[in-house]
Amino acid sequence: MTIKKKLTLLEGLKNRVSHPRLTEPMPTVEELAHCYDAAFRAPDHAWLRPWRFIECRGNEREQLGAILASGLEKEIPGLSEQQMEKVKNGPLRAPLVIICYAHISDHPKVPVLEQQIAAGCAAHSLIMALYAQGYGAVWRTGDVAYSQSVKEAMKLDVNEQIIGFLYVGTPLAEDKEVPKLEKDDFVTSLAVQLAKK
Ligand SMILES: Cc1cc2nc3c(=O)[nH]c(=O)nc-3n(C[C@H](O)[C@H](O)[C@H](O)COP(=O)(O)O)c2cc1C
Repeated sequence: MTIKKKLTLLEGLKNRVSHPRLTEPMPTVEELAHCYDAAFRAPDHAWLRPWRFIECRGNEREQLGAILASGLEKEIPGLSEQQMEKVKNGPLRAPLVIICYAHISDHPKVPVLEQQIAAGCAAHSLIMALYAQGYGAVWRTGDVAYSQSVKEAMKLDVNEQIIGFLYVGTPLAEDKEVPKLEKDDFVTSLAVQLAKK
C-alpha cells in the first residue's frame, strides 16, 4: 500500500505527476472538501466562478461509460465493438471520476477564453490538492470531452463545456521519474525577446 505523505505547496507543485493506474480508497468527503476549497481559489477575472464539477462514483461510473459510448457512437459511426467497450469501461479505471466543466457567462470584460482558463486552473488546483493529500489523479479529455451528444446527455447547457475528466484514487504505482526541464528553454527576458531577429 502506498504511504500517504503530506506535501508543502511548493514541493507538490514541483513534483506532481499523473497517475493513470488508480484504485480504492478514494478521497473522503472531508478530503474532497479541501480539494474544492483549493479549486475555488483559482484566479478568476470578475469572480465569475466558471468552474463546475460532477462526481461519479460506484455505478455512476457505469452510467457515465454508457453515456460516453452512446455519445461517441452517434458522432463517429463505424466504431468497432472493441473501441466501444474501451470507451464504456473507461470510467471504471478509477474509483472516482470528476467531470470538470466550464460554465461560461456573458461578460463585457471577460472573454470565453479567460473563463475556460479559470476553470482549467480550478481543475489543476483540485488535482494538486489531491496529490498533496496522498491521492493520485490523471486529467483526460479525448473525443468524448468535445462530443455534442455527450454534452447533451450530461444535461450541459449551450454555454457549458467539458474541460476534463479527472480520474481519482489511490495510486497503484510510485510517482514516476520525470526529466527536469531547463529554465532557459522556456523563460527569457524582455531584452532578449525584443532582440530576436
Ligand atoms: C486539458 C488536458 C487534457 C488531457 N487529455 C489527456 C487524454 O485524453 N489522455 C491522456 O493520456 N492524457 C491527457 N492529458 C495529459 C495527462 O493528464 C498528463 O498530464 C500527461 O500524461 C503527462 O503526465 P504528467 O502530468 O505526469 O507529466 C491531458 C492534459 C490536459 C491538461
